[in-house]
Amino acid sequence: MKKTILITGASSGIGRATAKLFAKKGWNVAATMRSPEEETELKELPNLKLYTLDVTKKEHLQKIISEVEKDFPGIDVLFNNAGYGAVGAFEKSTEEDVLNQFKVNVFGVMDLTRQFIPYFKQKGEGMIINTSSVVGRFTIPLYSLYCSSKWALEGFTEALQYELKQFNIKVKMIEPAAIKTDFHGRSLKTFENDAVKGYDKMEKNILSGMKKRNEKAPGPEVVAKTVFKAATDGSQKLRYPAGKGAGAVLIARKLLPTSWFNKMVFKQQNR
Ligand SMILES: NC(=O)c1ccc[n+]([C@@H]2O[C@H](COP(=O)([O-])OP(=O)(O)OC[C@H]3O[C@@H](n4cnc5c(N)ncnc54)[C@H](OP(=O)(O)O)[C@@H]3O)[C@@H](O)[C@H]2O)c1
Repeated sequence: MKKTILITGASSGIGRATAKLFAKKGWNVAATMRSPEEETELKELPNLKLYTLDVTKKEHLQKIISEVEKDFPGIDVLFNNAGYGAVGAFEKSTEEDVLNQFKVNVFGVMDLTRQFIPYFKQKGEGMIINTSSVVGRFTIPLYSLYCSSKWALEGFTEALQYELKQFNIKVKMIEPAAIKTDFHGRSLKTFENDAVKGYDKMEKNILSGMKKRNEKAPGPEVVAKTVFKAATDGSQKLRYPAGKGAGAVLIARKLLPTSWFNKMVFKQQNR
């Protein structure tokens, strides 16, 4: 029987590329997004259906499984992908910036996962794949909120895998390096606070450097392939680095003394 994947944030980037790949591989795809009425291309795919899902809205989260089950026989894989970057000097951020970053990148994942655990337990199997980042394992200046949201997701995912193994529910995460998507455009929310001084040079170097690096980065299809591997390789493997240099930087993070590694990152970012 055909398997079904539910994807959050399927309107663009990694979520969209993953939806297309799984559909091409013959899976049923529940492509969820905040504004499905604006989507034209994906809905033409035969085994793909669109659903409204804002991961911060409880009323959406609570009914998504039953909505998908009206169209498909069941859901086998949950791919928590929706996310954005709240970026800039922490001193410029507001409490609202912090809350919003965590509401989408962390609490949204937790809340949807909470809907799926009893569902997968009843089915006797299931898989949850979360989208972390290489910066879920190290940090870069001006990304303190984004990094801390992904570090939280790493801790959550790692602990959850132990709890759910006994129920035949696999828990995995994808750790992309820089990927060319809308992430560094419309999905990047920078803090505006002219009263806070002292960060101009750092912001200029780091934010423009990041933008340039992302323009040269591989497209989201490379991550979609990694998600497909995670969903189908039959292993209990937890972490899947994805994209150019992701594996290498995470090995360096593991092997090098932290102070060396941090100096290297800071130098690289300030180039
Ligand atoms: N691109 C990179 O370099 C990179 C690297 C590492 C990790 N990641 C992670 O990869 C994931 C996907 O990002 P991307 O690169 O594909 O960027 P993207 O093209 O900007 O896609 C982000 C997606 O998240 C959705 N989203 C944002 N807030 C949402 C909410 N409240 N409810 C539901 N969906 C929401 C967006 O929906 P709308 O269209 O409605 O805005 C969009 O579909 C994110 O978790 C990101 O942190 C990206």
